[in-house]
Amino acid sequence: MSYNIAVDGPAGAGKSTIARAVAKKLQIIYVDTGAMYRAMALFMLRQGVNPADGTAVSEKCRDADITIAYEGEEQVVYLNGENVNPYLRTEEVGNMASSVSVQPAVREKLVELQRVLAAKEDCIMDGRDIGTCVLPDAQVKIYLTASSEVRAKRRYDELAAKGQECDLEKIKADIEDRDDRDMHREHSPLRQAADAVLVDSSDMTVDEVINRILELCRR
Ligand code: DC
Repeated sequence: MSYNIAVDGPAGAGKSTIARAVAKKLQIIYVDTGAMYRAMALFMLRQGVNPADGTAVSEKCRDADITIAYEGEEQVVYLNGENVNPYLRTEEVGNMASSVSVQPAVREKLVELQRVLAAKEDCIMDGRDIGTCVLPDAQVKIYLTASSEVRAKRRYDELAAKGQECDLEKIKADIEDRDDRDMHREHSPLRQAADAVLVDSSDMTVDEVINRILELCRR
């Protein structure tokens, strides 16, 4: 049986930074499920599908063949054979991912891919429904969160460091909208699994969070 760590939490809580570092430390793979939903969102944007049209999203998602591969430590997402990693990390794609991920047809397709991967490989997988739905038997479950102010400020600093102009209030409003959609959707909403450990990183450094998770894995 493979060893699986599930990490869930809202946008901007630092899941990917932490999961990537823990994966490296434990020599296991890091599975970024948000990137799969983002690839699906990119497909819908390119096809001009209206995210509010659930029937169109459900039908179109059949034409999106999403696979993942590992090149070194990097997870590469292929959309119909194209490496789409360079296009996934924009706010537009993130918001579209939050919208299209409410559709059960989209979720079924990606959850299947995630379960197959986790059954084969020791991994740390992050997302919104990993501990509650994708890997209910994961050996370690973490719910990683932080206040929306802290999450917005981290995102703002990240964009500012890249020289991109941004507005802190707008980022905070987008984060709160996204939380609201991810937590209140009908299928697999974001919530803490009953057996997950809550880690609030608002007042913690990255290293403190990593060490806390490694300690939970050792137990
Ligand atoms: O973690 P992220 O920002 O890359 O995720 C983008 C969106 O994808 C997120 O707002 C909701 C959706 N998502 C999901 O519904 N389930 C997951 N396991 C991962 C992401």
